[in-house]
Amino acid sequence: MNAEMTQSNERPVAVFDSGVGGISVLKHIHTLLPNEQLLYVADSKHAPYGSKTPQEIQERCFKVADFLIAQDAKALVVACNTATAAAIDALRLRYTLPIIGMEPAVKSAAAATRNGIIGVLATTGTLKSAQFAALLESYGRNVEVVTQACVGLVECIERGELNTENTKALIRQYCAPLLAEGADTIVLGCTHYPFLSEAIAAIVGKEVILIDTGAAVANQLQYRLFDEGLQSARNHTASVSFWTNSDAVNAQQVISQLWGVSAEVAYSSL
Ligand code: DGL
Repeated sequence: MNAEMTQSNERPVAVFDSGVGGISVLKHIHTLLPNEQLLYVADSKHAPYGSKTPQEIQERCFKVADFLIAQDAKALVVACNTATAAAIDALRLRYTLPIIGMEPAVKSAAAATRNGIIGVLATTGTLKSAQFAALLESYGRNVEVVTQACVGLVECIERGELNTENTKALIRQYCAPLLAEGADTIVLGCTHYPFLSEAIAAIVGKEVILIDTGAAVANQLQYRLFDEGLQSARNHTASVSFWTNSDAVNAQQVISQLWGVSAEVAYSSL
């Protein structure tokens, strides 16, 4: 490996979401690839993406990607199901760096269900997308799929309200139709929702399997970095940097709460 290559391999991996939800994916990436330097942008000023048009989401993704590429990112992880559905094709047309997206884990849920009934909790944007229809066509044919848009839940997590009465009431409301249909497996189809896993499990019961895509995204990133010869050669844990475009004081509290240790959060007007 020559010096130039080493230098380029030590560039950071960039991760973003409409807000703080993608931190659930960032955790898996940092655990699997601790020597990769990571950058994270929470586009919280524009959350939720779930109620925006695909055009509006694409514009936000371009803005955030331009910012992260200007920080010398070597790969981009779209840690957001809604943004992936609306913008991954446009992002891949516009930029040449490796871009990893994500989609609700319908395939894994179809493999895990015991009674053939799966529930999908996601944003309106994800559930209405052509990508989600294609996903159901590919992997949902032999199972019954009950979908539920969870309006207002992303905002609870953005405020750091993981276990309040209001959050639990929304979870009860949105899980009720899935349980009424008999779903024994529930896909957490939005990266914000894994932060509610405990609250959801307490409501739906331990026997219901909850499926999250974060670990699969981290595996996919590892594979792409290897495939492109872009893995870091560092032998120590690298730094993780956070940016937000919402009120940085509140963001610092919420991001630290979700990340699990106190995090420095920089403000950007992006
Ligand atoms: N975290 C995002 C996702 O995975 C969506 C949140 C939003 O609606 O902004 O879909």
